[in-house]
Amino acid sequence: NPSPPLNLPNKLTLRRPKPPFSLSIRNSLSDSQAPTTPGQLRVDILSESLPFIQKFRGKTIVVKYGGAAMKSESLQASVVNDLVLLSCVGLRPVLVHGGGPEINHWLKRLNIEVSFHDGLRVTDAATMEIARVDPTVLWSIVNDGHIPVIASVAADETGQQYNINADTVAGELAAALGAEKLILLTDVAGILSDRNDASSLVKEIDIKGVKKMVEEGTIGGGMIPKVNCCVRSLAQGVRTASIVDGRVPHSLLLEILTDEGAGTMISG
Ligand code: ADP
Ligand code: ARG
Repeated sequence: NPSPPLNLPNKLTLRRPKPPFSLSIRNSLSDSQAPTTPGQLRVDILSESLPFIQKFRGKTIVVKYGGAAMKSESLQASVVNDLVLLSCVGLRPVLVHGGGPEINHWLKRLNIEVSFHDGLRVTDAATMEIARVDPTVLWSIVNDGHIPVIASVAADETGQQYNINADTVAGELAAALGAEKLILLTDVAGILSDRNDASSLVKEIDIKGVKKMVEEGTIGGGMIPKVNCCVRSLAQGVRTASIVDGRVPHSLLLEILTDEGAGTMISG
């Protein structure tokens, strides 16, 4: 079981201690004392991640990256950095990327109207019925320690191309790969119990709970297809599905390697 939380703040401000200061040597694993130096704080956090590294080592984690988090170059770099770090400590990340803002940008330049239906882009909605996912080609890539990056376009036997919703691809792929986790990076804090209040984050919930929130109308718009993907992947054996704030740097590491996480974790 993961160790009890260290009660560290979510947002860390590292301050250089004012000299003169005295150094006290103490056991870095003891959490009964507040960290004394910035270095101490760092090793405390590193040490908090150990149970999660042990738990998730060798496990496949499918991450969908899209929306606002894709717009900023520094956030792109932070996502890539996190994926490499996770891979280096033994997890098996698979990245599925969406193209939302890019598609909207080009449609606008070409004067084509953007159209959404039930929170899904119309080109996605037409292809929601996913009959078959064949992840065979991914196994050798993942087993060699590489991180596959997958675009959410597909073709049928006749060569007809489809733009499939990237959340859908990530969810179905997670199920087909027998993944431990599905993580959808988005541009809200997670599932909110009041969608107009960013501080109303629901940190953990189960399938029954999200279904109730959809029925009551608390979850709406683009969040509905997102939670549906999560529920579908959980029903097919994925252990947890998280909806995480991609605008926060290193939110992937926060979600996977800390007790607190960085969004909403849905379990079966
Ligand atoms: P993405 O572009 O990352 O795929 P979407 O914009 O399609 O994400 O879906 C997320 C949106 O869902 C949020 O921006 C928010 O407006 C809407 N939403 C509706 N209900 C909720 C809720 N209960 N909690 C959070 N977001 C919600
Ligand atoms: N790091 C732990 C895990 O991945 C806990 C994550 C908790 N996340 C949350 N959003 N409540 O299992």
